[in-house]
Amino acid sequence: MTRYLITSALPYINGIKHLGNLIGSILPADVYTKFLRQQGHEALFICGTDEHGTPAEIAAQEANKPIEDYCQEMYGVQKDIYTRFGIDFDYFGRSSAPSNHQLTQDIYQHLEKNGFIEEKEIKQYYSFDDKRFLPDRYVEGTCPHCGFQKARGDQCDGCGTLLDPEDLLTPYSTISGSKNIELKATRHLFLDLSQLEDRLKDWVAQQPQWPEVVKGIAKKWLNEGLQPRCITRDLKWGISVPKEGYDEKVFYVWFDAPNGYISMTQDWAAAKGTPDSWKDWWFEGNDVQHTEFMAKDNVPFHAIFWPAVLFAADMNFKQVDYIKGFHWLTYEKGKFSTSQKRGIFTDVALELYPADYWRYYLLANCPETADSDFSFSLFANVVNKDLADILGNFANRTLSLFQKYYQGLVPIQLSQSQIDQTLTQSVRTQMSELTQSLSQLKFRPAAQHLRALWVLGNEYITVKEPWTVVKTDSESAMISLIHCLHLLRIFAVASYPFIPETAARILTLLNDSGVGNLSATTFADAVNFRYFPQGHMLQPPMRLFEKIDDEKVMELTAHYAGE
Ligand code: 2FM
Ligand code: ZN
Repeated sequence: MTRYLITSALPYINGIKHLGNLIGSILPADVYTKFLRQQGHEALFICGTDEHGTPAEIAAQEANKPIEDYCQEMYGVQKDIYTRFGIDFDYFGRSSAPSNHQLTQDIYQHLEKNGFIEEKEIKQYYSFDDKRFLPDRYVEGTCPHCGFQKARGDQCDGCGTLLDPEDLLTPYSTISGSKNIELKATRHLFLDLSQLEDRLKDWVAQQPQWPEVVKGIAKKWLNEGLQPRCITRDLKWGISVPKEGYDEKVFYVWFDAPNGYISMTQDWAAAKGTPDSWKDWWFEGNDVQHTEFMAKDNVPFHAIFWPAVLFAADMNFKQVDYIKGFHWLTYEKGKFSTSQKRGIFTDVALELYPADYWRYYLLANCPETADSDFSFSLFANVVNKDLADILGNFANRTLSLFQKYYQGLVPIQLSQSQIDQTLTQSVRTQMSELTQSLSQLKFRPAAQHLRALWVLGNEYITVKEPWTVVKTDSESAMISLIHCLHLLRIFAVASYPFIPETAARILTLLNDSGVGNLSATTFADAVNFRYFPQGHMLQPPMRLFEKIDDEKVMELTAHYAGE
């Protein structure tokens, strides 16, 4: 039977991530994993922090902490936030773990042995005041083409021209602002991607099922032609290069980070006491479907660069099967910006509203086939309408009426002949649409089917009006209400991958130990649930969601407008 390996792009260590980061990788990966597990599949969800590189060093410097301490601390902070968002990783590791040092060096040695590494001398700016070499985007200066004064070493944002740092006029370090910088010759190792061009072209051509955004980016890179790529850096913090003359250098962060998917699986295996079991997930020849989740800026590294490394290393590692790439989530029509503190960050989000509000909103409006925009007014609209008015209201009406008419006890067990076949059929249809969307990793349509399912409940209770009918035909009111209760139970199962905390609360209100483990109840089981037995006791209703009023929307919009 196919087993599923799910990996989410490794969040960078240099600070708390924003909602765009969350919906671009970890959150949909979590929904997919939960769904697969519910349907009885074996699924392994691996993620962790990406800890090397210049931005991490600079962040640690700014925080005035040794880099090891900074990373350890931020790893803990990020991990805790994801736990509070209801994310069920099997393992949340670190790219700086010893396993990744070993694996990355091993991969490098295979690349060298197989003839894919070349050494070249390049010129790079050295900043005397910062006491470090400056990566291209840490040098700025005047663009020689348009005169824009803040052109970066890799590209000018004024005219769009691609640049090399030495093209810049009056260059300075963006770290300290110092102009005391000088071009110095330094030797580096390059991975010769050009040897792999044909192999990658064939491989990408065999992936018609990938999302358009992913195929488009992969093909663009291939059409532009693959150049040798530098895989070492003049830094201290990172994975050391096992080669003479490279004591002062480490591997480029993008060379070690993706290997982290494998090394974190190794760490997972070791932690559970079966140190070799990672191989069942990563070696060719196992029936494993590997899906990677990421935002579009990460696609070149996952669709071209890392596959090239794995092909060239030839160590029997399996290539990815499906890359789920996302567009951008924008914030109130602009960019989320970590440096300008613009947008909602995951820690703040959880202080404002429960995780499920964010999970549902983000999934229902995710940037799946195009960019999508976050605004507090849309957020409030979705929470108020979909969650509070539809699902919340349905649960509340149903449970209140059971208290009112039957003291919270299920009055009879419905018999086969009393079951509303039309309703049952509609439920089956929505559940199978939902299953199909999630199997195909289509999250927006999946959220629409989930919502349509909740709407069925709300419409049913509105049409049946048990509160009116009870006065003239108490039996038929009772039958309608028992159907509502049954729907609520199905809703809990169907909603679980999206809003796990709410799903569990619904089951608690239903006193439903029958469903047992929500994370292992299939959608097929849910549509075939037996009705509650006579005398089954329910909990008094509790509001599932609080509405967000206009005044609050205005307050939040103004407060989080950014610096
Ligand atoms: O974009 C990012 O945040 C990167 N840290 C993603 C790395 S994914 C993986 F390959 F490590
Ligand atoms: Zn320019």
